[in-house]
Amino acid sequence: MPSRPRKFDTTAASPVPTDWATFELPDAWPDLINWFNPRSLFLMLAKFTGHTRARVILPDGLPGMERIPRYVLQEFHNLPNGNYSKRICQGYATGFEPVMLGTLRDGRERLAKALAGANCVVDLGCGSGGCIPVLRATGVNTIWGLDPSPYLLQLAAKHNPEARFIHGVGEEIPLPDNSVDGVNVCFVFHEIPPLYLKRVLSEISRILSPGGRLAVLEPAPTQWSLSVSQLWRNYGWRGLYFKWLARHAFEPFIPAWHKLDFPALLRESGFTVLEDDIGCPFRVIIAKSL
Ligand SMILES: C[S@@+](CC[C@H](N)C(=O)[O-])C[C@H]1O[C@@H](n2cnc3c(N)ncnc32)[C@H](O)[C@@H]1O
Repeated sequence: MPSRPRKFDTTAASPVPTDWATFELPDAWPDLINWFNPRSLFLMLAKFTGHTRARVILPDGLPGMERIPRYVLQEFHNLPNGNYSKRICQGYATGFEPVMLGTLRDGRERLAKALAGANCVVDLGCGSGGCIPVLRATGVNTIWGLDPSPYLLQLAAKHNPEARFIHGVGEEIPLPDNSVDGVNVCFVFHEIPPLYLKRVLSEISRILSPGGRLAVLEPAPTQWSLSVSQLWRNYGWRGLYFKWLARHAFEPFIPAWHKLDFPALLRESGFTVLEDDIGCPFRVIIAKSL
């Protein structure tokens, strides 16, 4: 019998990690269908091309399901059942880097560089854990990965046995006040409605010790707002590809993210903005907590 994860005790000095790597997660519907059946294949194609988007269905017995906000339960990036199945998350974990044309490595390294020297870092929205080895390579001692998807947490835990993982969301981080000196956020804030971002930033500011750093990488407005000819002139075919991707990958809150004055929100939330570098395809923002 798999052991059930314990409830978080946010008042404890340090949360008790659950062994996500070995926890037996229930199959979600994409894990149960026969992909070689022509009907299933057709259903999946319709999903991947965004023609039959539906809400995510969580299987009975999924740990922490009561903690997952409704807005998360959408088929982000046109993935069948979003980030909530074993098969799709495995495919997502291997496909993310190639879809981003290998640019992620450089982005992750920029975040890790900004957090170098930190002792304890939270990778907020860690997904399958792609940032964790890069953070470790800069010498960070303790890394916590936090994500609402148990399926992604499981992959992250399998790939990074030395890190600790917690289920949850940025709006309610199950870590004590002043307990970390770095927070890493890679491609996460644009998936959160701006209404909740204020709450997330106040949680980050709560867990960060004074002077602690927040390193953020998100999609840039460049490929979203520049015209085809401007993108071609400045970035060549890669600029055009990222424009196409920005318009076709289902990301329900991306227009709101691009309208938001994020540096202003950071300042309102008690951070000093150290860097805001807008390139293509991403934007890197480094801030320091007061
Ligand atoms: C595009 S993925 C990026 C994953 C990872 N950071 C990486 O670089 O590969 C976005 C991640 O944000 C997570 N996420 C969505 N809403 C969140 C929230 N409110 N708090 C924390 N993580 C969230 C998703 O579950 C998903 O793993």
